[in-house]
Amino acid sequence: MAPTPEILSSASETDVSKTCTTYNLTPSEFHQLQTRASAAKATAYCPYSHFRVGAVLLTRAGIYISGANVENASYPVTTCAERVAFGKAITEGHRGFKAVAVATDISPPASPCGMCRQCIREFCDLDTPVLMFDKDENYSVLRLEVVSFACFQL
Ligand code: THU
Repeated sequence: MAPTPEILSSASETDVSKTCTTYNLTPSEFHQLQTRASAAKATAYCPYSHFRVGAVLLTRAGIYISGANVENASYPVTTCAERVAFGKAITEGHRGFKAVAVATDISPPASPCGMCRQCIREFCDLDTPVLMFDKDENYSVLRLEVVSFACFQL
């Protein structure tokens, strides 16, 4: 049975603290992931869809790498935020990721697309948490192994 992603609030200390315990993150890491994923949206190049996506990766060494979607007039040439972030991270020599976060301007939170999940799987263990932030203060978090069941409708 596919898990139904719970909608949590980053304004709730209980939710954030539960998330941090479950996924082995510090409250500061959680806050950084949220802030950086949200800020990364501002760097999106999305004149065709106007759908901004920000992504941030946290390495086991404590480094954050951000990315955003980069669209193209030939739409399939578009690169999603997650793959931009992994491209930057990998080519800068980073390996070993503790968490992946994405942020969009919609609600409920959106999950990484199939190509991005495949890309994440190349570099992350199946138990890696994927945090999905929406336009408000809500988020969902699922491990990579089940995030494919959480394909929210745009
Ligand atoms: N997009 C992402 O950046 N990440 C995803 O996981 C799904 C979709 C982008 C691609 C495109 O620029 C826009 O969102 C609309 O599909």
